[in-house]
Amino acid sequence: MRIASSVLDLIGSTPLVRLNAVNRSEVPIVAKVEYLNPGGSIKDRIAVRIVHAAEASGELRPGGTIVEPTSGNTGVGLALVAQQRGYRCVFVVPDKVAEDKRAVLRAYGAEVVVAPTAVAPEDPRSYYSVSDRLVRETPGAFKPNQYANPAGPASHAASTGPEIWEATDGRITHLVAGVGTGGTITGTARFLKEASGGSVQVIGADPVGSIYSGGTGRPYLVEGVGEDFWPGAYDPSLVDEVIAVSDGDSFRMTRRLAREEGLLVGGSSGMATVAAVRLASRLGPDDLVVVLLPDGGRGYLGKVFDDDWMRRRGFLGTAGVGSVGELVRRKDVGGLADAGSLPAVRRDATVGEAIDVLRRRGGSRLLVLSAPQPVVLGEIAGTLDAHRLLAAAPGDSIEALIGPMPAFVGAAEPVAAARATLTAEESVLVLDDGRPLDLLTRTDLLAHASDDHEGTAP
Ligand SMILES: Cc1ncc(COP(=O)(O)O)c(C=O)c1O
Repeated sequence: MRIASSVLDLIGSTPLVRLNAVNRSEVPIVAKVEYLNPGGSIKDRIAVRIVHAAEASGELRPGGTIVEPTSGNTGVGLALVAQQRGYRCVFVVPDKVAEDKRAVLRAYGAEVVVAPTAVAPEDPRSYYSVSDRLVRETPGAFKPNQYANPAGPASHAASTGPEIWEATDGRITHLVAGVGTGGTITGTARFLKEASGGSVQVIGADPVGSIYSGGTGRPYLVEGVGEDFWPGAYDPSLVDEVIAVSDGDSFRMTRRLAREEGLLVGGSSGMATVAAVRLASRLGPDDLVVVLLPDGGRGYLGKVFDDDWMRRRGFLGTAGVGSVGELVRRKDVGGLADAGSLPAVRRDATVGEAIDVLRRRGGSRLLVLSAPQPVVLGEIAGTLDAHRLLAAAPGDSIEALIGPMPAFVGAAEPVAAARATLTAEESVLVLDDGRPLDLLTRTDLLAHASDDHEGTAP
């Protein structure tokens, strides 16, 4: 009989499948489908090994509690192992992680604490800090710390690497994997480099903005990969090259994998596949590229796979005639003082400084930014309205006056989409391929309407 003794025995041994539609080169690209693990992601692998190692070292004892900051998948893996072995689980997740993913953690019996993303790692509200505090306050707590735990990379050296080597009969020449904690690429590379006498080339895929590909750690939208610090689980000496991929390219490829390859996977799988396709375009017919697809797409149905979500962020379509993007271009040509920059102030500005910007730019609303321009979406902290400034003193900080995020409209959407939003909202932020272009108000649309009118006058 082939019956697993518990769900934990079903972890690993995932299949490899050739990518046909998304790969135009002669070089085969094969995907390792990690969503077929019982918890739905590659993170099941590290969970088992981390818990076993902690039991062996005495860090985790009967009745103990596992506390971990996680983007969701590690939580599922740990929750599976914890319930099978009788531990309690508390997870701290960043607020950008979809609600569906948090619900999954709760379904497995774990407790979930949500922490903000737009703060520095050392901020007491950050998800790293919150989890440290929970560890201190919970008796019998064990923090797996997937960012530094050597059992993470070790699990991939013991399972992911050998599985790829065997399934390809040792013919793999290039490994492509997204880098989050770095555990996957480090452990898998360690095995494959050793097995091949150093010949397998290892390529990291990384979101534009993340430090692995030379960024500063600025925010991006793809989940589960990229970092703003160097984790101990990552060994850069094993990685031959890192390819940076934009959010837009990652998401569009993710949708193609579902529609054209029948693989419903998450955004980081799309990102890794873009890197694999770019790599393959410069390789030869004797090469064999293996790309890891870390998780499934069901947790992202309200994001990557939602047409509206994609359009509003400017990830679908091009900004042609009659589009919001064209309106923004015309407005800039109209001779605005600060054309090309957003009507905005830094978060640390005073009320007096904000009033100066409003007077120079006109309008009644500013964006509040946590970084210098040009910003990315994740660096917009909210909005600041003229009527709130009136009620404050010039020397006051604007911090207490910051209002909610504006609504979004994609640059490729018709002007009618912006108009519809502005009937209910004070302003709408125009996004082009995820990048903030301008903040439109009703006045901008009225100016546009009168321009059109003049244009059609006899
Ligand atoms: C969806 C997703 N993709 C990729 C990764 C990258 O794996 P690692 O943390 O081993 O670098 C992770 C890990 O968090 C993930 O959750």
